[in-house]
Order: sequence, then structure tokens, then C-alpha cells
Amino acid sequence: MPAPSSSEEFIVYYGTVIHSLAPTDLEINENAVLVVNVAIGTIVVFERNVEKLNEFLSTVNVLQNKHYTVNALSRTQFILPGFIDTHAHAPQFSFAATGMDLPLLQWLDKYTFPKESEFSDLEHAQNVYSKVIDRFLHSGTTTCSWFATIHLEACKLFTDIIERKGQRAYIGKVNMDQNSPDYYIEQTESSVNDTRTFIEYVKAKNNNLLTPIVTPRFAISCTSTLLKALGDLAKEHDVPIQSHLCENLAEIDFTMELFPDSANYTAVYDDHGLLNDRTIMAHCVHMSEEELQLLKSREAGVAHCPNSNFALQSGVCDIKKYMERDIKCGLGSDLAGGFATSILDAMRSAFIASNTTGIIKSQYENNGDQYKALDAKELIYLATLGGAKVVGMEDKIGNFKVGKDFDALVCDASDDTSVRLFRHDTPWDMLQKFIFMADERCLAHVYVKGRRVAGWKQ
Ligand SMILES: *[C@@H]1O[C@H](CO)[C@@H](O)[C@H](O)[C@H]1NC(C)=O
Ligand SMILES: *[C@@H]1O[C@H](CO)[C@@H](O)[C@H](O)[C@H]1NC(C)=O
Ligand SMILES: [Zn+2]
Repeated sequence: MPAPSSSEEFIVYYGTVIHSLAPTDLEINENAVLVVNVAIGTIVVFERNVEKLNEFLSTVNVLQNKHYTVNALSRTQFILPGFIDTHAHAPQFSFAATGMDLPLLQWLDKYTFPKESEFSDLEHAQNVYSKVIDRFLHSGTTTCSWFATIHLEACKLFTDIIERKGQRAYIGKVNMDQNSPDYYIEQTESSVNDTRTFIEYVKAKNNNLLTPIVTPRFAISCTSTLLKALGDLAKEHDVPIQSHLCENLAEIDFTMELFPDSANYTAVYDDHGLLNDRTIMAHCVHMSEEELQLLKSREAGVAHCPNSNFALQSGVCDIKKYMERDIKCGLGSDLAGGFATSILDAMRSAFIASNTTGIIKSQYENNGDQYKALDAKELIYLATLGGAKVVGMEDKIGNFKVGKDFDALVCDASDDTSVRLFRHDTPWDMLQKFIFMADERCLAHVYVKGRRVAGWKQ
């Protein structure tokens, strides 16, 4: 019999495993077996309805003569895919939860630009970026699509920090060459050059958890020349794109003044080569029917950021409508337009936004009868598999299909946490209580590609 190979080590999880297969298809299996190859961080076995664990394990080929540990979950524990935040601004953690008294454009001028400009100071950047990544990992966000600032050196530092802490990330150096304060603006050519340098810096790491993303802040802060150059850059380097779209009515009006040659705001990005199947557009609150069709035909994804939409009084986004049209949708914290770091909060805010849409329809538009708000299954979908599709990683993460990476949350709804379970509670009840009542103590262990990166339990 060959000795167990030390490079191949496996962890076997046995208990309740919950994940999405489609927006309304949530699988809850109480006796599932998940086997993870620790060295490469991938799922090698996923078996449902296993009554006798040892008997089953003796039939699993990959485990024969291999070293493995069994992790049997208790009745209050379950495993979920890691949360995916499709839109967040890392530097804005420094002032998150303050200054929520203004709408978008004034909020940017008064709070955001001054605070983001401070990231030319690398010591400050180191402090804020370390803390924000820790916070997000402890909130269960295993994948995030980040906006940084315009500063090349701070963006490189941010990349190094994410790499050390082990989050899966899209990392964007922000571009701004117009309608920005003179202390926080770039020249068009150096903006493009720095972006190219940054893309090469991230790619040179050869770390498949880290991807550079082209990040024009939004159309208002970029000239047509810059937008066009960024579209070309994304194509040349085969990288994704992120920006903001139709967040607020004043923003839309100003954009259309600046880009009179485009038919509408969505078309501005399209006309500059920035709208494709690797594009993530945050918000999309106020979209015309034609713009939705354009977004869909380009297969771009939507980052739904309800906390931010309420906090900045931007509007109520009917995300359900987009899901019904088969547009890719995920959740975003939009820190610090949104005040919360957690995708649990985004699920709760999305639920409130969806119910608010129903209330508006029935009370003010007299057509609420047909409206069905988001339910808990759809909230989990948006937080996991939906987000994975938005970031174009559904072949790697989002649920527990064999071959995917083990990006996972070992959740615990015991009485040591904010959740209370009673004897009548089923696993489905436990999940709903978790979505609406969990605090971070419920996140016992957080894994990215098989590596433990955070968690409440030691
Ligand atoms: C940008 O890069 C090009 C090509 O490498 C170079 O010729 C140019 O001087 C650079 N411009 C600035 C402003 O750095
Ligand atoms: C928006 O622009 C697209 C692309 O030019 C066009 O197909 C669509 O009709 C426009 N929609 C509106 C409402 O202007
Ligand atoms: Zn944003």
C-alpha cells in the first residue's frame, strides 16, 4: 500500500449544504458530503443524501490511501458558497457611515473626492486597505469587485494586501480626467499609461485569484478620448470593465449634456467599446426599456446596490424585473454610498427595495397585483451564483459543483450567535433566520479556494 502523499490532503464535510442552481432553484441537502482537495482548493466530490458516511467514503476513489479529515457539522451548522460583492469602493471605508446627508453628485464633491485624494499617502492607504479587506473577509465576502483610487502606487499596494489576505478580487485603478477637483484628477495620457502599468503589475503576479479591471469612475469624470482608450485597453489586455450607470437622475442629465452624440447613458459606454459580456454596471436604477435591451444584448451584468440607493436617495431599483429578463444580476455593498460592508446587509436591503417596488406599484400606480417581490431563495442566488455570473466566474465559484473552487462559509446558527432556533425549525427556516438575523458570529469559517481566510471560530 503506498504511503499517503503529503501534497494531496483532503477535507470531508458532512452535514447540511445549501447552494443555488438557478434563481428560484435552491438546493438544501441535510446529509451532503463535500470533499475538498486542500492543495488545489477545489471540490472533488459532492454527494447528496448520504446516510452512512464511512460506508460512502470507502467507495470514493480519490480518497483511497489518502490522508483526509472528516468535519461533521452540527445541527445548527451548514455550508454556503462564499458571498460575492460585485461593487465596492475600498478607499471609501475610511469615511463609511458618515456624511450621508447629500445626493450622489454633491456627496462625491464634499466627502468622496477629498477622502480618496488622501490615497497618494501610502501609509494611509496601507492602513485603510488592510482594514477594509479584513472587514470584508470577516463579513463572508470571498470575492469582491473593487474600485480603488487614481493613484498607481496605492493601487499596487492594495493588490499586494489583497494577495496576502487571500481574497478573490477584481481590482480597478480608477480613471478620472474631467469634472473632478484639481487635487484629484489625471491627465488623459498618464491615466491610460498608469492603467496599462497597473494591469501589467497585477497580471505579472500570476495569481489566479487576482484580476485587473478597467474602471472609468463614470462617464461624467472621463473624456470621450479617455473612455475610448480604456475600451481599447480592455480589449487589448482581455480584462473586464466596471463603472456606474443610471444611478441618479441629476447624474443622467449631466451625462447626456456631456455626451450629446450618444442616444442615452447606456449607449455612452457602448459607443466607447466599454459595454460587453465582461462589463459590470453598478446601480442601473433608472433605465429605459431600450437601455435594458441594449445592456442585455451586450450581456453586461448589473451590480444591484440597494443600501446605497436608499442612503444616497438615488431611487428604488426593480432588480426583479431585470432578473425576469435574464439579465445577469448580483449584489453590491457599494461601500461607502452604502454604509454596510456585508452582503448579508445587501440581501436585507434588496428585500426591502423589492418590497418597496411592490408597495409603490400597488399604492401609487395601482398595478401591484401581479408583483412578486424577491424571496429568500432569490436573495441567496443574488449573493452567490448570480454574483458569480456578473463577474464571469460561474465556472469557478457560486455553488458547489464538482470541479469548482471551495469558496465557502461554514455557518453556525447556534445560541452563541444572534440567531435562535426552536424545535420546529427546519433547515429552510434556519436559512431564512440566518439571512435576516445573522451577525458575524454566525460565520464560523470563511474559505477562499480551500484556504481559511477569516471566521469567528478559532
Ligand atoms: C505614455 O506612454 C507612451 C508609450 O509608452 C509614452 O510615449 C508617453 O510618453 C507616456 N506619457 C506619459 C504622460 O507618461
Ligand atoms: C439608447 O441607445 C441605444 C443604442 O444607440 C438605442 O438602441 C436605444 O433606442 C436608445 N434608447 C433610448 C430610450 O433612447
Ligand atoms: Zn459605486
